[in-house]
Amino acid sequence: MSFLELVNKRYSFRGYLDKEVEQEKIDYILKCANLAPSAANRQPWKIYLVKDYEVRKKLAEAYPREWLIEAPIIVVFTGITDNNWIRSDGKNYLMCDVTIIADYFILAATEVGLGTCYIAAFDEKKVIDALKLPENEIPFLITPLGYPKDGVTRPRKRKELNEIIVHV
Ligand SMILES: Cc1cc2nc3c(=O)[nH]c(=O)nc-3n(C[C@H](O)[C@H](O)[C@H](O)COP(=O)(O)O)c2cc1C
Repeated sequence: MSFLELVNKRYSFRGYLDKEVEQEKIDYILKCANLAPSAANRQPWKIYLVKDYEVRKKLAEAYPREWLIEAPIIVVFTGITDNNWIRSDGKNYLMCDVTIIADYFILAATEVGLGTCYIAAFDEKKVIDALKLPENEIPFLITPLGYPKDGVTRPRKRKELNEIIVHV
């Protein structure tokens, strides 16, 4: 699969089958994610793979959508606030680092035929409580991980390249 085919295959799936994810696929995805780069190579992140139904239920309270709890695994990407690179002018790159590892994870999941959906609109406190996160960890992104119910159901809406590319 070319990179273009891979990124075309990734989609925000909002419906999942009641079907387990094979351990080999999870191992492969994690191996890919672990190669993600980070500022100053600090790797200031954790990936929570939540299979436990009770904890998934609590996470689904933080983002109450039917389809989140449908997936057999909910993944939470957190950033470690005392191990991240900060530019000399004070700009914090933690969210950027966490986004990159989440991207690697999600694209690897796509490659092996699994569905995901970036979620940021969750109640942060509820996620912190559900996972009992320590004070130095911030959850930035969540995704369900599982086999999608349906294929791509909406057209891709993207800006034209000439709207976003600036030739200087
Ligand atoms: C940082 C980020 C946060 C997002 N948060 C949510 C969310 O909270 N809930 C949701 O349903 N989709 C969320 N999405 C999915 C976007 O709506 C989706 O990626 C966008 O509409 C493009 O659709 P596509 O992913 O199917 O190509 C988020 C995506 C990104 C990148």
